[in-house]
Amino acid sequence: MSEDPDVVSRRIARESIERDDPTGWFENLYAAAADGSAVVPWDRGTAHQLLIDWVDESEPDGTGKTALVVGAGTGWDAELIADRGYDTTAFDISPTAIETAHRNHPGSKAHYIVADLLAPPADWHRAFDLVVEIYTVQALPIPLQPDAIKQVTELVGPGGTLLVIAAARPDTQPDDEIQGPPWPLTRAAIQSFTTPDLHLIQLDQAPSPTAPTTLRWRAEYLRD
Ligand SMILES: C[S@@+](CC[C@H](N)C(=O)[O-])C[C@H]1O[C@@H](n2cnc3c(N)ncnc32)[C@H](O)[C@@H]1O
Repeated sequence: MSEDPDVVSRRIARESIERDDPTGWFENLYAAAADGSAVVPWDRGTAHQLLIDWVDESEPDGTGKTALVVGAGTGWDAELIADRGYDTTAFDISPTAIETAHRNHPGSKAHYIVADLLAPPADWHRAFDLVVEIYTVQALPIPLQPDAIKQVTELVGPGGTLLVIAAARPDTQPDDEIQGPPWPLTRAAIQSFTTPDLHLIQLDQAPSPTAPTTLRWRAEYLRD
């Protein structure tokens, strides 16, 4: 019987984190998936259901607007956003994820780019009308999360929207009890995406579409 993909991905992650390389495992996992020796557990082959729900409810018109999809993986969420008319950039730290996104979506209108959220291109600073962040911050060890959150917020342009989808955990649960990845986000972490000019305008907690005992945040922020 083949090994559980979650177990394989956690092993690949642990090996990388123990080498003090907390982001190197993403490329290792996508490369192993590309050669058929692993499965990327979060690669759904479709956009995230909570993103689909947000698009259905908000009906955003991206005509003449820009969007950035953070940690875009193999591109399913970016395709949904590009289909709404946004000039969409989607980036990931893993070159193999980006190659797979190109292969999955030939003729895509989205621009797929290798980049690091923790050191983003300078011209992305406050440049996007819509920023979508799904599961990237929680994939980073807790000590890296405050910097990652700050970097996400600095991508949102004036008047722009930030949408964050993440696994939730109680504020009372101590960090050292979490055997990540992932390291789900507390309400305090969700609040920490706000700044004096970036406001939390909607926060929902819903059961995961695929694992109903796990809760997910869907948080929407608006920059002045
Ligand atoms: C848990 S996956 C989620 C992927 C996708 N957002 C989704 O929901 O399916 C986290 C993604 O973030 C990417 N990632 C992790 N650290 C990153 C960083 N520092 N900069 C850019 N991408 C990163 C990983 O390669 C991976 O594709």
